[in-house]
Amino acid sequence: MHECIDGREEIMEKLMIEGGTPLEGTVQISGAKNSAVALIPAAILADSTVTIDNLPDISDVRLLGELLKEIGGEVELADQKMVIDPSKMFAMPLPNGHVKKLRASYYLMGAMLGKFKKAVIGLPGGCNLGPRPIDQHIKGFEALGAKVTNEQGAIYLRADELKGARIYLDVVSVGATINIMLAAVLAKGRTIIENAAKEPEIIDVATLLTSMGARIKGAGTNVIRIDGVESLHGCRHSIIPDRIEAGTYMILAAAIGQNVLIDNIIPLHVESLIAKLREMGVDVEVLDDQVRIRNHQEKKGVDIKTLVYPGFPTDLQQPATTLLTQAHGTSIVTDTIYNARFKHIDELRRMGADIKVEGRSAIINGKTKLQGAKVRASDLRAGASLVIAGLTAEGITELSGVEHIDRGYEDLEQKLIGLGAKIWREQMSDQEEEQVKSS
Ligand code: EPU
Repeated sequence: MHECIDGREEIMEKLMIEGGTPLEGTVQISGAKNSAVALIPAAILADSTVTIDNLPDISDVRLLGELLKEIGGEVELADQKMVIDPSKMFAMPLPNGHVKKLRASYYLMGAMLGKFKKAVIGLPGGCNLGPRPIDQHIKGFEALGAKVTNEQGAIYLRADELKGARIYLDVVSVGATINIMLAAVLAKGRTIIENAAKEPEIIDVATLLTSMGARIKGAGTNVIRIDGVESLHGCRHSIIPDRIEAGTYMILAAAIGQNVLIDNIIPLHVESLIAKLREMGVDVEVLDDQVRIRNHQEKKGVDIKTLVYPGFPTDLQQPATTLLTQAHGTSIVTDTIYNARFKHIDELRRMGADIKVEGRSAIINGKTKLQGAKVRASDLRAGASLVIAGLTAEGITELSGVEHIDRGYEDLEQKLIGLGAKIWREQMSDQEEEQVKSS
């Protein structure tokens, strides 16, 4: 037994994957994880009830619900809907505990600072992708008038009042852009965020805040203007589809699908992936809110460089690397966002892939036959890349580190079984648990 990611005692599990069966059918895409994890903290800023619909059923969402309860919120979560009454919330310090378990707990900093003018939040955890600084978040909070200190692994934020400011981000950061928006919506006067990130999740957060009464212009461009208001009220909001989950299934379909319809998506959000798949020779049909992948031809290798939106997302780099093992020729995948996001490569090699890592790039020689093996997911998207590898491989793959996948993919097995995949969960033996703990 170990403590699972949302705080419950849980049995350690592994995914068993029998590869080689071509997939076919329709998969429904859930609400976007990276929107959800910002929208839930954003509700703190309101004075009355906020209802968020189309939430993905993932452990990060459940964990954030628990965190809002810790600060006095009334939270109900059922049927992909969270109803948050923030009226009794207070600036409870959260130096340890759940905040350490997910990266997105940093949004509690912006939201609590905005609402209460103070907050204590433990430095966030989440996927280990190498160094993930939050200096740009802090630069923004300070520009708005907060005093920020780091004391024994917790960030202390305090302000007499928050005043709008012009903030130029030195690094284009999704988290910093959203966090500064959260802190600025109740500040006095105008805040301008320059060199802002443009990801769809930022527009989603701005839409929620606007429905709560905030005045925000330019979300989705690199200059966002926020005019502070006195207070914010409750509202109802439905989350956009998860472009990374959609992209993961598109990549899977390109690897081992015959004819797969990815439903309930915004195709514009996955344009960079569609372009790459077509370059590889994959047949992609774009419909209104669906994409159909037909996979008949041999695929050819391509080079991929991850970039900020609308470039190729770093979150699809790991799944795409697995796909490229099934393409002919040499492909180079370069991650310009996280240069250490390559922990899946050793595991893919174990399954027979011919990949080497040089600096920020993975060089993949295809096409290789993958063989089932015992592998471990080191992070969420590494997990997705290994599930795709397992489904593509001959034989059985045993994948541990499932708790990472549960953080971000709703109902992964059921969705895959719906496409004809042979995948199931098993409890790990005591010996396997020991091996994982000591690795
Ligand atoms: N960065 C800084 N300083 C900062 C903030 C970021 O140097 O203050 C750097 C980072 O180290 C990185 C780059 O800027 O090299 C971009 O980081 P960003 O802040 O945009 O990432 P994030 O907001 O922490 C979100 C997603 C990630 C996704 C990235 C990039 C959430 C909760 N997480 O992280 O999602 O990879 O944007 O698009 O929204 C995932 O879903 O698997 C995941 C890791």
